[in-house]
Amino acid sequence: MEIQLWREILDPYALAVDELIIKFNYIINEYRHVGAYSPIEQVTGRVKTISSILEKALKKNIDLNKFEEKIEDIAGIRIICQFVEDIYKVVDIIKNRSDMRVKSEKDYIENAKKSGYRSYHMIVYYDVETLKGKKQIQVEIQIRTLAMNFWATIEHSLQYKYKQNMPEHIRERLSSAAEAVIVLDREMSVVRDEIMDAQNSFTIKANVVADILTNIQNLYKVANKQEVIRIQDDFLNIYQNGDQDQLESFSKNLDKVAQRYRAQSLH
Ligand code: GTP
Ligand code: MG
Repeated sequence: MEIQLWREILDPYALAVDELIIKFNYIINEYRHVGAYSPIEQVTGRVKTISSILEKALKKNIDLNKFEEKIEDIAGIRIICQFVEDIYKVVDIIKNRSDMRVKSEKDYIENAKKSGYRSYHMIVYYDVETLKGKKQIQVEIQIRTLAMNFWATIEHSLQYKYKQNMPEHIRERLSSAAEAVIVLDREMSVVRDEIMDAQNSFTIKANVVADILTNIQNLYKVANKQEVIRIQDDFLNIYQNGDQDQLESFSKNLDKVAQRYRAQSLH
């Protein structure tokens, strides 16, 4: 493999990562637009650098002519969830998609690594289109909770700092921190239903407010200014002092007013 060609080889991996970030963010939006709770909190991605590809190939004795096949995490996606339950929901979503084919999975949540590391890993095949045609890309997807991600991030930087020589007392601290993460995630799962209710009513409220504001904005163009100002004052009053039900019935009435103006403008 010629080094100068590497940039070209890595381009389709960058495309795969970009496309997948857009697709997972789209899933978040689909949930939020219907006012539902999204099992995905956040998604990030990266392409492995040439130097860490070389380093991994050397360490694992990988033939450089076969690195695209043997190194499965050249393209990497990380999905962060709020709760452990969400992770398995995301795994199902991925398995049911027609644009990703699962090659292998590792459940380091049920079976944590010796370090204390926990996450759900999937290697999937994903096709991108290039000028040379279709190219099948392997992507490593890591799915973890916010708490697992916190632990893994800290542990990774300590690993980096100490290389192979992490002091025993640090290792022990990390190990007990990993236990604490398990307890934290478990506690959070217990209050999950309550948190989800709160988040749901928050998004529902945000959607209703967005509807109302769109209607008011449109009314400005067609309705009597005095009336629009009165509607706006009513809205602010209910927004500040009213409850969700009042907000929703205000929104319904406003829909009717807007409809009336639409009907008038047609005549
Ligand atoms: P790699 O050579 O790292 O690819 O090992 P592998 O092929 O056995 O894959 P594995 O599923 O064990 O790990 C893949 C990725 O998970 C790593 O590149 C890390 O991003 C992450 N990971 C695995 N173990 C640990 C760990 O102990 N600590 C942290 N912080 N991350 C880990
Ligand atoms: Mg790996």
